[in-house]
Amino acid sequence: MPPTLTAPLAPPVPADPDASKVPRHVAVIMDGNGRWARERGLPRIKGHEEGSKSAGAVVQACADAGVQYLTLYAFSAENWRRPAAEVSALMKLLERFLREKTPEMIKNGVRLRAIGHLADLPAACRKQIALSMEATGNGQALTLILALSYGGRNEIIDAVRRLATQAAAGEINPAEIDEAVFSGTLDTADYPDPDLLIRTSGEMRLSNFLLWQLSYTEIYVTRKLWPDFREAELHEALRDYAQRSRRFGAI
Ligand code: FPP
Repeated sequence: MPPTLTAPLAPPVPADPDASKVPRHVAVIMDGNGRWARERGLPRIKGHEEGSKSAGAVVQACADAGVQYLTLYAFSAENWRRPAAEVSALMKLLERFLREKTPEMIKNGVRLRAIGHLADLPAACRKQIALSMEATGNGQALTLILALSYGGRNEIIDAVRRLATQAAAGEINPAEIDEAVFSGTLDTADYPDPDLLIRTSGEMRLSNFLLWQLSYTEIYVTRKLWPDFREAELHEALRDYAQRSRRFGAI
């Protein structure tokens, strides 16, 4: 039997996550929808549909647990290389998810934001994102950030271009560019770096997600496929995080 990737290293953990150690920002690589469908002899889109239910459950569970920011890697810059029918189905699913969940988000104080090259998305999708962002703008409990047509390297290159343009125009002194300035030039300028990264389906990769922002983030990988990752699995990840000792390079 392969070792479980999430086996706790310390004594049994309490049933509920320790409120004082709830991560402020959770980021998730939602992986394994295709495998979930294949295991059942279903088309891949059925896995994505079930995965969107997990997204809804995890948004709610994070809000309930006191997480303040949740970033979901919903569509990567590389995902455009998938078959056109799957890309189109994913875009429709995203639009439907936002249309259906917006009233619930308003009720629960969830504020929607998005990062990535949103201009690449179909017009209907962009319209729904804009509507949902506007409608949820007053949410105070949880900021839900969807990474869409997002790539970490693209984001860094965009930031470098912005700074280089400002430097060439004499608006910024290159010597003044430090970590804070650079962070403030990224798509994520308004959000703290993630405290916890969750990746499902057992893969040990960052897949071009938040490359700058994850420098000191705790990583939790579970073999669970994303459609099987719901509230109980999120609580397990939060309990695991609560046991970590974060040193940020110090002793
Ligand atoms: C990875 O599974 C998942 C995606 C590429 C897309 C994630 C999308 C969703 C969970 C549904 C829509 C999102 C929202 C927020 C409503 P995979 O297809 O790479 O799985 P595999 O590696 O098993 O093939």
